[in-house]
Amino acid sequence: MAFDPTLYPRCDQVPAWAALGSHWHAQGRGLDLRGAFARDPGRFGHFSQEAPHLFADLSKNLLDAQAEALLIQLARECRLEAQREALFGGDKINLTEQRQVMHWLLRYPAAGAGWTPTRLGEVAGELSQVHATLDAMLVYAEQVRADTHITDVVNIGIGGSDLGPQMATLALAAFAQPGRRMHFVSNVDGHELDGVLRALDPAHTLFLVASKTFTTIETMTNARSARAWFTTGGGRDVSRHFVALTTNVAAAHEFGIATTFGFWDWVGGRYSMWSAIGLPIAIAIGAPAFRQLLAGAHAMDTHFATAPLERNLPVRLALLDVWYRNFHGLSSRSIAPYHSGLRRLPAYLQQMEMESNGKRVDRQGRALPFGTSPVLWGEPGTNGQHAYFQMLHQGTDIVPVEFVAVREASHTLPGHHEQLLSNVLAQAQALMQGQDDGGGHRHFTGSRPSTFLLLDRLDPASLGALIALQEHRVFCSGALWGINSFDQWGVELGKALARDITPRLATGDIGGLDASTAGLLRRLRHTP
Ligand code: F6P
Repeated sequence: MAFDPTLYPRCDQVPAWAALGSHWHAQGRGLDLRGAFARDPGRFGHFSQEAPHLFADLSKNLLDAQAEALLIQLARECRLEAQREALFGGDKINLTEQRQVMHWLLRYPAAGAGWTPTRLGEVAGELSQVHATLDAMLVYAEQVRADTHITDVVNIGIGGSDLGPQMATLALAAFAQPGRRMHFVSNVDGHELDGVLRALDPAHTLFLVASKTFTTIETMTNARSARAWFTTGGGRDVSRHFVALTTNVAAAHEFGIATTFGFWDWVGGRYSMWSAIGLPIAIAIGAPAFRQLLAGAHAMDTHFATAPLERNLPVRLALLDVWYRNFHGLSSRSIAPYHSGLRRLPAYLQQMEMESNGKRVDRQGRALPFGTSPVLWGEPGTNGQHAYFQMLHQGTDIVPVEFVAVREASHTLPGHHEQLLSNVLAQAQALMQGQDDGGGHRHFTGSRPSTFLLLDRLDPASLGALIALQEHRVFCSGALWGINSFDQWGVELGKALARDITPRLATGDIGGLDASTAGLLRRLRHTP
């Protein structure tokens, strides 16, 4: 169904926006977290909640009950629930590409679902295709796992065709089959592919060429070089050693790849790890665990689709994002996963948030008078503590921090996990409490905000839930801002210019270039 953006008011056009502005001036900007906890013994209970596979403590955020109520009112006035219906109804909410947005369908069970979207019948055909492809892909994953000749699997893809599988494979390393190495090559910089290929033997290597479009220059360049390495290194049978994960099956066949696992244009690249793009994850952890990953995400979908806005975690996180970005004027958020398995989570969330919501016009093409996507950044704890946490504690900018901690370790080394957990608790505490030194070098202002997400263990289901939580949160903030979170035109200009520059590097033609680009190009060609 078509999506009519005029039916959904933008956040700055509803009464709650002005009310939030007044509240921010009157009380919001002066809120002191220490005072808020002292005044309200129930603050932790009120601002924390259970959600599928995780617990969230939002109580150390610069939020009081009145701001929260006004934010919920804002969501209602922007018709967030109706926008959620449009998502789950398969409306073409990706307006500029006239596409549905249905990554949630990729984890919708064939039977025994947590909830039934009211218009599920309209996408029943897509759902059966999803399960046919999933079943085939998981059979293939198990075949690879059983094939002792394949010792190394190389995923060649970039952006959404790299970050999700890489992040999840690292996160779920404890569940991986021992003895098989997974590699991820994304950069067109040949140092990356060269470094990986050096240690490999064509006869024992499987390449997964992952690209939604099968046209991305980095991926195609790497795939061609890998194929050349394979054939010149004595590899036989490209069609057995190269598999494509793509919506463009025709282009994959043209490349010489016979085995392809497809997906659909209604799966955005940065939302695609649940599709055939997830094959490296399935090879690493096996079919049953991959299904648990999907089930965890579906549990979060169910929560998002059914929980009232007041207790709906993706909604609450998105409202906080709007509060910080548009009222407190905070332009970045730091993500601090206290689990080394989640070391690629910040990079993964960067694409999800910033490619989705890094937009300057609304769905109707009007320039926005307020800020959208924050800058997302971070490193795993405790490493970040010894690098940039100084700035978080004593710098001039306030940066909300999102801690992710895991209660149970998946190793047995004594003492480590206790240290890790005490550090994550201490950092959140220090940001909030601060330290009074009369304003000198050892003074910490405190009252600095953080959110705490706690998983019982880092397993496929909890990872699925954590990622789906973030997807829905990005959807909600984008919906409130009135933007299209599902296109990415901002990446196209640089691609077009690179296409123009590539032949110039060979010919030296600088005609029509600005003086800086021309000067740099001449230097790169050693022609001063
Ligand atoms: O250029 C940006 C982008 O289109 C991302 O949105 C996407 O995840 C990535 O490139 C890779 O695209 P593809 O999977 O089509 O190779």
